[in-house]
Amino acid sequence: MLGADPKERIYAPIADDLDTVIANIAGVAETNSHGPPPEIEARLSQVLATPGKRIRPAITLLTSKLWGRIPDERTIKMATAVELLHIASLIHDDTVDSADTRRGHATASNLWGGNIAVLLGDFVFATSATFVCDTNSVRLIRRFAQTIAELSRGELNEILESWSLKTDRERYFQRIYDKTASLFSTSAESGAVLGESDDESAANVREYGYNLGMAYQVLDDLLDYESNPEQLGKPTANDLSNGVLTLPAILALESGEARSEISAYLNSANGDRPQLLEAAYEAICASDALDRSRAIANDYIDAALRNLEPVPESESKEALVQLTGYIRDRQF
Ligand code: IPE
Ligand code: IPE
Ligand code: MG
Ligand code: MG
Repeated sequence: MLGADPKERIYAPIADDLDTVIANIAGVAETNSHGPPPEIEARLSQVLATPGKRIRPAITLLTSKLWGRIPDERTIKMATAVELLHIASLIHDDTVDSADTRRGHATASNLWGGNIAVLLGDFVFATSATFVCDTNSVRLIRRFAQTIAELSRGELNEILESWSLKTDRERYFQRIYDKTASLFSTSAESGAVLGESDDESAANVREYGYNLGMAYQVLDDLLDYESNPEQLGKPTANDLSNGVLTLPAILALESGEARSEISAYLNSANGDRPQLLEAAYEAICASDALDRSRAIANDYIDAALRNLEPVPESESKEALVQLTGYIRDRQF
């Protein structure tokens, strides 16, 4: 039924193709069933069974239509690849973040432990690459491989900078480009390339993906402070509890509003950690760092909308504008 979920209305121009993407993803477990033993297939099916918001494949499909083309087999394969890459990164991310739930269900690492989760994630990473190969575009294969490297670098830097005061804005923005905006920009650019845009337009659409991805991660980091696990389907207050400083903490540190609480927490020993976590969390929430983080996200949102201005008017362009608004207002 259309209407209740704003995403369904936004995705209407590409609804059938998005269904094919989801079917392709579900098929990954089956396609491989003649190879791996059934225990692997069962686990793969489980991690691939619950679709998320499907934002990245929607971006690829919508941007591919901006110049009047209908998404073909190659575009649907690319859209499948970006979502599979995203799923693989979540399996690894939940392992390193010690997250118990994702999309409202137990994570792979929670169910089967870190070793199996890492190897399942590898399996999904490698499978995502086979879908990009089906585009026959070396340019897209290269960009996809760079995206995996950037994603890994972002996740690695996040861990290496945790439990220390060395994260600043510059490091944070580089990190969120690496872990999130890189894949958003690849999703957008690949759609434009497959939709036969000219190079200048492809660069512009890539920039749209970049700005949307930066906004997306800033807002996700804000939801880690402002939302709750029931609504989000994943843990909240998880970043700080893993010693990870995201934009709200960085701004509250910069302005001095929560510096002593954050420093005390990062230097804490296990015993007094829960109380110091609580104190740091409350000091950040009481500062104006959350509002200032939202203002920064809104600047990225506005920049993404400006990137769409030169694109010819169409139903797909309107859907991308609506998607930007959906991301700005997302509560879960
Ligand atoms: C979660 O991404 C990871 C981030 C980049 C914040 P999504 O919020 O797109 O996750 P799903 O796919 O909808 O579950
Ligand atoms: C984003 O990082 C995950 C990836 C891009 C791999 P987070 O750790 O902030 O995302 P959530 O909050 O677990 O979804
Ligand atoms: Mg995480
Ligand atoms: Mg993480």
